[in-house]
Amino acid sequence: MNKGTVYGLGVGPGDPELITLKALKRLQAARAVAYPVQRGDSVARAIVAAHLRPDQSEIAIDAPMTGGETAQPGYDAAAQTIAGYLERGEDVAVLCEGDPLFYGSFIYLLSRLAGKYRVEVVPGVTSLTACAAALPLPLVGRDERLVVMPAILPDEKLREGFAFGDSVAIVKVGRHFRRLAALIDELGLTARAHYVERASQAAQRVLPLAGVDPASATYFAIILVFKEASSWR
Ligand SMILES: C[S@@+](CC[C@H](N)C(=O)[O-])C[C@H]1O[C@@H](n2cnc3c(N)ncnc32)[C@H](O)[C@@H]1O
Repeated sequence: MNKGTVYGLGVGPGDPELITLKALKRLQAARAVAYPVQRGDSVARAIVAAHLRPDQSEIAIDAPMTGGETAQPGYDAAAQTIAGYLERGEDVAVLCEGDPLFYGSFIYLLSRLAGKYRVEVVPGVTSLTACAAALPLPLVGRDERLVVMPAILPDEKLREGFAFGDSVAIVKVGRHFRRLAALIDELGLTARAHYVERASQAAQRVLPLAGVDPASATYFAIILVFKEASSWR
């Protein structure tokens, strides 16, 4: 018997209309649907909820946002459950907010299942491009360089990124907001910095960095800094 395929489906940054036709087709054809759950909620499942069939099995992946070691047991258990379906020749769709391979939770399943089973990834609209669209400002153009960094990096690593990139995006903002804002200020870039929260969703917020109340900053936000005011900006 042929084994099933695991589909890593990017479901976009939140607006249910930003899912691709291909991801939707793969989702609807799958026997089971898996998605990460944090504190009882799944952003990825909510995005596609209208398309789920009652006869599809659902696999909730316990994926605390802390990542690292604490998240591993949840992915181990999910990989085992998914493998059970694949061994029976049944396909499993794994939902991932944004794009599966851009800081996506699917990475942890890819490393566990690739090589043993057929894996197909359907790319999604990333939160990064959704944030640029929300502004709307060009992310990069012409000969410019883009640097993307997670907020958890120490200041010296962040400084390296700012030195290299023309446009700089910082993901996973949340509790790091005050430190990031202070660093951007020290670099003289506050006037060129934007904060975009929950891009493409009903609760979207777009603000100049200086206009953000630090206490209100969330994990679901990106800080975008455009270092040069080039002629086309
Ligand atoms: C674990 S990463 C997942 C990224 C996702 N795979 C993607 O392609 O956009 C989570 C980070 O993406 C960013 N993010 C995700 N969705 C977002 C949204 N709708 N608006 C702004 N930032 C978002 C935030 O910086 C958040 O901390």
